[in-house]
Amino acid sequence: MATRTVADIMSRPVITAEPAETVAAAAARMEEHHVGSVVVVDSGRPIGILTERDLVRLAASADADVSAVKVTEWMTGDPYTVEPHVEVIDAWATLAEKGYRHIPVVVDATLVGIVTIRDLVRIAQIQPMEHPSQTTAPKGLEGLVVAETAVGDVRGLEGFYHYRQYNAVELAEKRSLEDVWHLLFQGELPTAEQRRDFLQEIRPLQTVPEAVKSMLPVIARSGTRPGPLDALRTALSAAAQALDMPPSLDVDAPRLRMDAMRVCAVVPTLIMALYRLRQGLDPVDPHPDLGYSANYLYMLSGEVPDPVHARAVEQYQISTIDHGFNASTFTARVVTSTGADLGSAVVAALGSLSGPLHGGAPSRALDMLDAIGSPDNAEGWIRHAVQSGGRIMGFGHRVYKTDDPRSVMLRGVAERLGGHNVEFAKQVERTVVDVLAELKPGRNLYANVEFYAGVVMDRCGLPRELFTPTFASSRTIGWCANILEQAADNRIMRPSARYVGPPPPQPVPAAE
Ligand SMILES: CC(C)(COP(=O)(O)OP(=O)(O)OC[C@H]1O[C@@H](n2cnc3c(N)ncnc32)[C@H](O)[C@@H]1OP(=O)(O)O)[C@@H](O)C(=O)NCCC(=O)NCCS
Repeated sequence: MATRTVADIMSRPVITAEPAETVAAAAARMEEHHVGSVVVVDSGRPIGILTERDLVRLAASADADVSAVKVTEWMTGDPYTVEPHVEVIDAWATLAEKGYRHIPVVVDATLVGIVTIRDLVRIAQIQPMEHPSQTTAPKGLEGLVVAETAVGDVRGLEGFYHYRQYNAVELAEKRSLEDVWHLLFQGELPTAEQRRDFLQEIRPLQTVPEAVKSMLPVIARSGTRPGPLDALRTALSAAAQALDMPPSLDVDAPRLRMDAMRVCAVVPTLIMALYRLRQGLDPVDPHPDLGYSANYLYMLSGEVPDPVHARAVEQYQISTIDHGFNASTFTARVVTSTGADLGSAVVAALGSLSGPLHGGAPSRALDMLDAIGSPDNAEGWIRHAVQSGGRIMGFGHRVYKTDDPRSVMLRGVAERLGGHNVEFAKQVERTVVDVLAELKPGRNLYANVEFYAGVVMDRCGLPRELFTPTFASSRTIGWCANILEQAADNRIMRPSARYVGPPPPQPVPAAE
């Protein structure tokens, strides 16, 4: 912890007086320098201190001649002194106890400065201190509960995660993405009638606002090597502005839900429009009769996709809608806690997801399969990578210490899709798990969501640069569910940090 010493706050040079000087001369010097004391020195050594209090005593004394008496007659001799290295808090405690107000600072009995009790009190009061109610969170906030949620949760040791009260993998197996979207927004799975209404509500919201349409070609082509989410982040910010989203603090729940519906519906359209424009192609308008993921693929190619591919992408997208209090979800909730508009919260979450430690890159696992090349190379390649200190992409997880349920489901999806890469990927998975168990025993490293996600998306015709946006698209629904929940029961998030820099307040040096 940063602490302050007497050396940090003492005043220099000290206003001093010679022993032979008169009190009047010393008092005049105190007045001139606006100080409350003079230190009486003899060859640099403090032998006494004359303070305002002494002057008052002198003035009250009937028979003293102020113009003639010497400082040595009225000073406090042999003053209490302090050394520069003493911590402010200790110096203050001693002086408060003794009742002194001005303290000469000495090194080897030679005067080097002076501190006043007023300086010490001021500094001592703002010393860094532990407040009894303060708790220090672990780095990365790992394991810290910061909110209550009914959206969902992840149980790492059990290899299980859920959306509301349902197993997320089971939802991905049995339901459409819109049903799960309804579940997260409305708190329940839809009836047939509710589903019809919900789909009808979504359709018109998929269209990009006119004001933003004209901006998309510029956004799509700006930057030489944009990250996969850069263009989406920019376009979504423009769309949120065009949709006039007021601060969440100023709107009721139905209006905020409407903003959330608009953002979730328009994100897939923006992703595909930006991608096609970058390829020099015209955007494809959303298909009025296709579900979320089928329409997503349709807007990529302009052709109604193979239903098997559409369902595979839909299962991937359902499985990535939400996943506990990850960094981007937390970001969305922090921004919402300030009362900011929903667009700001989603744009901030996108920025958070773009970090390689979070949004990851499902494409990296696929790049690794390419690098390994053939089954014969697998063991040697993996062994070499781990022994050289490298990480095998698509393996290991902060929370899951057993099979990642998303990876298990996606392996099944990949098997259903077939293709040469699937058998190869399964063989590589087995080899990686075996090699990691041997070289990293006890770490419990298994395939995570990224490993088969790339295989599945590739098989369904999605180019690698769309892998992360495809994840962001469905995750937007999870962010929005969390935003609605945060806004409904809000308190601004405002934690504290422990200051560990140079002790304040240092005197501000004059500008050169
Ligand atoms: C996901 C990940 C970041 C989790 O990290 P974490 O919980 O902080 O785990 P740690 O970095 O503390 O790793 C623990 C040990 O396992 C090893 N390990 C973890 N993942 C590994 C991997 N994919 N390949 C090789 N070794 C790995 C670490 O080297 C470390 O070994 P050590 O104890 O000898 O130092 C990490 O597993 C990883 O980097 N995976 C590869 C990247 C990836 O797939 N990302 C997508 C995540 S969805």
